Amino acid sequence: MSVKNDMTIGFLRSAYGGESMAHMRYLLWGDIAEKEGFPNIARLFRAISYAEQVHANNHFKVLGNIKGGHMVASDAVFGVGTTVENLQGAIDGELFEVNQMYDVYLNAAKYQNEKDAERSFYFAIEAEKIHAQLFKMAQDSAKEGKDIEIKNVYICPVCGHTVLDEAPEYCPICGTKREMYKKF
Ligand SMILES: [Fe+2]
Ligand SMILES: [Fe+2]
Repeated sequence: MSVKNDMTIGFLRSAYGGESMAHMRYLLWGDIAEKEGFPNIARLFRAISYAEQVHANNHFKVLGNIKGGHMVASDAVFGVGTTVENLQGAIDGELFEVNQMYDVYLNAAKYQNEKDAERSFYFAIEAEKIHAQLFKMAQDSAKEGKDIEIKNVYICPVCGHTVLDEAPEYCPICGTKREMYKKF
């Protein structure tokens, strides 16, 4: 893995920070959902938290040959609220990533011919689109005081692709085989 342009390097660091925070935030919001009596929404938060960890790790690995300490600035969502409120934070964060952050980062990486960064940003933006939809579905249910009815949540360990009930034979984003998916 390699990356050479400062602009893309900065975007990778920022995205690493954002994904790391999303990972932590979803674990916390999952605990709150559990306490509020939404065990399946809690499981969705924990599964997607893992997907964000996958994205963070991907960005980190692309930066692997560039060492040293750096200040990292990332947009992040804050707030400890009810599960309905926390899901709104999650939806807002995911849509920001899809419509602005990764849209810009992905195109910058393409423009700078940074293939590894492009792949890492592409994996993230495709997974985040699904996350926004799943959080919206969960919020619709929580607003009525009901938990979501799901079996398992499966996460692709390579790109963070997130799917309910059953993993596909091959990941539609990165091609990873079904057996590799992590079940929640
Ligand atoms: Fe996400
Ligand atoms: Fe994948």
